[in-house]
Amino acid sequence: MTDQLFALPTAERDDAAAAAPSPWWRDAVIYQIYPRSFADSDGDGIGDLPGIRSRLPYLRELGVDAVWLSPFYASPQADAGYDVADYRMVDPMFGTIADAQGLIADAHGLGIRVIVDLVPNHSSDQHEWFRRAIAEGPGSPLRGRYHFQPGQGENGELPPNNWKSIFGGPAWTRTTDPDGTPGDWYLHLFAPEQPDFNWEHPAVADEFRTILRFWLDLGVDGFRIDVAHGMVKAEGLPDIDESREWHLLDAGISPCFDRDGVHEIYRSWRRILDEYPGERIAVAEAWAPTLERVANYVRPDELHQAFNFSYLGTAWDAADQRKVIDDSLEAMRKVGAPATWTLSNHDVVRHTTRMLQPNDGDEVAGRKPIDVDPAAGQRRARAATLLMLALPGSAYLYQGEELGLPEVVDLPPEVRQDPAFHRANGQDGYRDGCRVPIPWDGDRTPYGFGPPDGPSWLPQPESWAQLSVAAQQGRPGSTLELYRAALALRHSDPALGAADNLTWCEAPEGLLVFERAPHFRCTVNMTAAPIRIPMPGRALLTSGPVDLDGAEVEIPADTTIWWSV
Ligand code: GLC
Repeated sequence: MTDQLFALPTAERDDAAAAAPSPWWRDAVIYQIYPRSFADSDGDGIGDLPGIRSRLPYLRELGVDAVWLSPFYASPQADAGYDVADYRMVDPMFGTIADAQGLIADAHGLGIRVIVDLVPNHSSDQHEWFRRAIAEGPGSPLRGRYHFQPGQGENGELPPNNWKSIFGGPAWTRTTDPDGTPGDWYLHLFAPEQPDFNWEHPAVADEFRTILRFWLDLGVDGFRIDVAHGMVKAEGLPDIDESREWHLLDAGISPCFDRDGVHEIYRSWRRILDEYPGERIAVAEAWAPTLERVANYVRPDELHQAFNFSYLGTAWDAADQRKVIDDSLEAMRKVGAPATWTLSNHDVVRHTTRMLQPNDGDEVAGRKPIDVDPAAGQRRARAATLLMLALPGSAYLYQGEELGLPEVVDLPPEVRQDPAFHRANGQDGYRDGCRVPIPWDGDRTPYGFGPPDGPSWLPQPESWAQLSVAAQQGRPGSTLELYRAALALRHSDPALGAADNLTWCEAPEGLLVFERAPHFRCTVNMTAAPIRIPMPGRALLTSGPVDLDGAEVEIPADTTIWWSV
């Protein structure tokens, strides 16, 4: 058996590096940092900006082009920071504005761009506007910046409409007036601590334009737009047709998601982004019902990228994968945007666990993860990653996937913090399992996440000592070294750039084979049995052990090989 091939000869790398890159983001590999779980500098058990700063050299060595940081703004943390109380302030738990500036400067010094999360659909209920709107009572002009409505029923005791929260329960909470009597209701598509802004109010749009400028002036390279499909609601807030499935993942063209009006907002934001030098970008988290609707967010005068949740949700099946890849490329081609690819993020079950589970349609995010054989999960996840990284466009990685971390499926209820878990029947309710802090080194928790013997806000499994960065670094065949090798090849090989040049090749059933000019071929065995083919060329990288001596090659189950042909 030959081990993974991890490097190209130096000469070949140098030639390839000479190829001029297209705008950086069209094929960037963007690494998602979930700040509370990345690195804890002060020993409070929660990751922070100085912690991230200290680990930037690791990310440079990994070979990513940019990082996206989930929210680190002032927040009561009702939804892990996706409930923002002050959009221009760093939460003391994460550091200070000076730490953010230092992080941006250090990252830039290492050639890493920085994308921050922007949460425009809703604020925290502790945002000054909302607090004053409540305190000032029904006549407060600040109420117009949110969706306050009288209830239905004789005494207004019923919610204004039948919308449900993504996290479970009604999307409305009744207020109490300053005199203690029950008052109007306010809308929250997520937790009650996350009131939705009313984007029809001009002050809301103005405020977000200045927030964009605030962070752009501070030097960020772009924004990830949270719930980018949610800001505009249908006039009159009509009831939803209850015969439709009500879910974030398949929202359809509903009265509160993916309304055409959101695009006007993005056109105005694009003008701001384009005023700044250096190709600042925005990526939409838009759960739209079809790839064509997703493409609307990345028309030439709107945002630059949109997450490809159709891809994330596709089963490990050759025909299905081929179709979603074709459909994605086709939809993005029509608007001139790069396709994006992602397998894991902070809202879904880690792909090491998820991709082994039966995919029964709606359960695309693997909302109820089952314990799977770790070795089998890693084998398939590594094969899936090598496939993803060979596709044209931009790829998003989620912290820890480069270590092959599995979902933690046995967190006791008392340590869980996901509001969806506590509200039950929500979007998934299991998001804590992918948010467990990263193991860096050592044999004992918190494995270098924070100071020795310090706490971590979610417990780390004992088995993670073997998965730490230190345990995998320099170990041939480790998942970390596979990611490093793949990213290095992606950078140096001109065939693996942004060019939309994927061609499918004839292949036995269950084997996915495509080429990218001038010389790259990718073969993926998606079946449970080995597949034997004539040796197509020189192997560049394999996702697992493969015997490469001979005129034929037997590609093991769940294995991807990159070839030079
Ligand atoms: C997005 C975020 C998720 C958050 C929700 C509400 O889907 O990714 O973590 O809970 O928005 O802000």
